[in-house]
Amino acid sequence: MQNKPTVFTIILWVALAGLCVGIVLLAPGTVDAYNTLAREQKATPTPTALTASVLMVTVDPANTPTPTALILRIGVQGDEVTRLQQALKDLGYYTAEVDGQYGQGTALAVTLFQAQAGLTADGLAGSDTLAALYGGAAQTYIPTPTPSPTPSVLQKGAQGDSVKALQQRLKDLGYYQGSVDGDYGGGTEAAIRLFQQQNGLTVDGVSGTATMAAVYASDAPPVTITPTPDPAAMPMLVNRDNPVPDGYLPEDMVNLRNTLPASLVYVKGSEIQGVREAVDALAVMFAAAKSDGITGFQISAGYRSVAYQQELFNASVDKYLAEGRSRTSAISATRLTVADPGTSEHHIGLAFDLTVAGTTFKGTKQQIWLHQNCWDYGFIVRYQEGKEKLTGFVAEAWHIRYVGVQHATAMRDQDLCLEEYIQLLTP
Ligand code: DAL
Ligand code: ZN
Repeated sequence: MQNKPTVFTIILWVALAGLCVGIVLLAPGTVDAYNTLAREQKATPTPTALTASVLMVTVDPANTPTPTALILRIGVQGDEVTRLQQALKDLGYYTAEVDGQYGQGTALAVTLFQAQAGLTADGLAGSDTLAALYGGAAQTYIPTPTPSPTPSVLQKGAQGDSVKALQQRLKDLGYYQGSVDGDYGGGTEAAIRLFQQQNGLTVDGVSGTATMAAVYASDAPPVTITPTPDPAAMPMLVNRDNPVPDGYLPEDMVNLRNTLPASLVYVKGSEIQGVREAVDALAVMFAAAKSDGITGFQISAGYRSVAYQQELFNASVDKYLAEGRSRTSAISATRLTVADPGTSEHHIGLAFDLTVAGTTFKGTKQQIWLHQNCWDYGFIVRYQEGKEKLTGFVAEAWHIRYVGVQHATAMRDQDLCLEEYIQLLTP
């Protein structure tokens, strides 16, 4: 009998010893786990209440969830996040995977929802946001209309909001006076040309990438107002009977080669000058010609001093003398094509001779275009057939004179040379 209790006692002792060893072995792990949890809780700024709520909330789609005081934010995980994502997904705000992880995508969806719901759009799903989302009145997502991409090139004939915006911008800067109607017509084109002229761009009236960038630049300069001469003022008449005053020098002249884009016209002499207003009109005219497919113009002459006209005159006389003519005959022949020094229109910086390389100008497509269209840009074909007795010169297809659009178109419409026009309008 004694053996049984002894054996039982031994078993009991062994069991007790095992239990003690187990406790001793397990204790450090338990302490470690406890310490780790404590450290994490300290290091994670997430409020304990939130963690508890997230863990405790159970999903029951049949119940209208009661808004809680939680703030869900990036980094939070759990069922409540899953519910949030699903609700946002159902309404179209969230498109990524419903995974219970509150990441950037969830925050963005929350922000979109808040913005549409009129809440503070901070991407934090707090009680107001959750109440609005779960309250039964949440709206489905209405995407903000993406603005249609601005076409890189706008030009005559274009229509729509991008044209409207362009017109308004040009108007704000003072280049455009017309209505903001979304139609890229002549007025808008002229405004763009003016902008291009004043801002060192190719003057073509087309709003391409460079022009658009310059127009919309934050430092785009407002229009420079140059005092426009009174358009009703009579053009200056210079002819054999009306020489320029002694020492006459036109004001506000510019170098043509520096002013006119080489893409529009070739200026033959590097020193050729002209009055700015007329040169600007040339730029607009050549741009229009180019848009009609007519290029290849050259400018052979602009402003001439009286001394230079004298040289030209003498050279012509010498040429006729060399042909065996008398001096009287040589001078008479010269005066048909070369004005006496002091009586040339070239002295006033408003006359230009246009040519085409390697051929006589008359009969070229450039000459035909010029004679049809120059009037609309303020130029007249100054010496025309049938008017020789009045002008004093044989017809010159190449010589144009700037008088401004109002006078030029009136002369064209009434078929008047400058002498006739001035006589008609002078009391
Ligand atoms: N050829 C024109 C008439 C001039 O000399 O002015
Ligand atoms: Zn000329």
